[in-house]
Amino acid sequence: MDLTAVVTGAARGIGRSVVTRLREAGYRVVAVDISPSVAELAADGIVPLQADVSAAEAPQAAVDRAVEAFGRLDLLVNNAARFLRRPILDTTDADFDNLFAVNVRPAFRFARAALPHLTGTAGCIVNVASISGLVGIANQSVYAMTKGAIVQLTRQLAIEYAGRGVRVNAVAPGAVDTEFMAEARAADADPAASLAVTLGNHPIGRMSTADEVARAIAFLAAPESAGITGTILSVDGGYVAR
Ligand SMILES: NC(=O)c1ccc[n+]([C@@H]2O[C@H](COP(=O)([O-])OP(=O)(O)OC[C@H]3O[C@@H](n4cnc5c(N)ncnc54)[C@H](O)[C@@H]3O)[C@@H](O)[C@H]2O)c1
Repeated sequence: MDLTAVVTGAARGIGRSVVTRLREAGYRVVAVDISPSVAELAADGIVPLQADVSAAEAPQAAVDRAVEAFGRLDLLVNNAARFLRRPILDTTDADFDNLFAVNVRPAFRFARAALPHLTGTAGCIVNVASISGLVGIANQSVYAMTKGAIVQLTRQLAIEYAGRGVRVNAVAPGAVDTEFMAEARAADADPAASLAVTLGNHPIGRMSTADEVARAIAFLAAPESAGITGTILSVDGGYVAR
């Protein structure tokens, strides 16, 4: 029986690579993104859903779409998020509210909508956290807090559902070569210097690729990782090992 996944933030970057990897692994996918370009993913086994994950109705709509289109739900990948690199004295209450509204509350709501379907199917949730949720990095206070919340949501749900056969894990990427990072760098005073600092902080001397993160996510969803739950798997080229 073909397994089915809901992937948020699927139109580009890591989410898009996750859709590709999961299709290769035989999953059917509901691909959720706020960008209209998500429609380009429409294909055999892929149903795009243009939605803002922060909208109250989006999580249930995505789960319903999976069940309507494919009859079941086995995997949720909470990937959609926005980045904010800003000194705390310049960070407003609105920044705080907006980032938590996109990066944290949807992961909680999508999990709440998905878990009734995952129970009893060896279902999985894989959340996309960040090294920013594990270690301190200057000028990322609110973004890092949102990723710390994702780390802790992962552990909490892993324990709450361990007895019901649902595994909940997260990946914690370091810098990944996506538009997310390119856009952040472009906003820096000296993008070339910013890139040099980023590469210097990663012992492997490069950013990870979106596909490398997607492979880790696919592993955490696969039977090969059946003994793993509540883990935060760093995909960071050695960043947090320093
Ligand atoms: N790129 C990195 O260096 C890096 C590092 C650590 C963690 N991450 C995390 O990886 C995940 C994906 O990052 P990426 O680099 O692929 O980013 P990206 O910006 O390239 O892609 C994110 C996708 O999410 C979508 N999205 C954003 N807000 C949304 C909303 N409200 N509703 C629905 N969709 C929305 C965007 O349209 C986009 O398609 C994020 O959780 C990010 O925090 C990225």
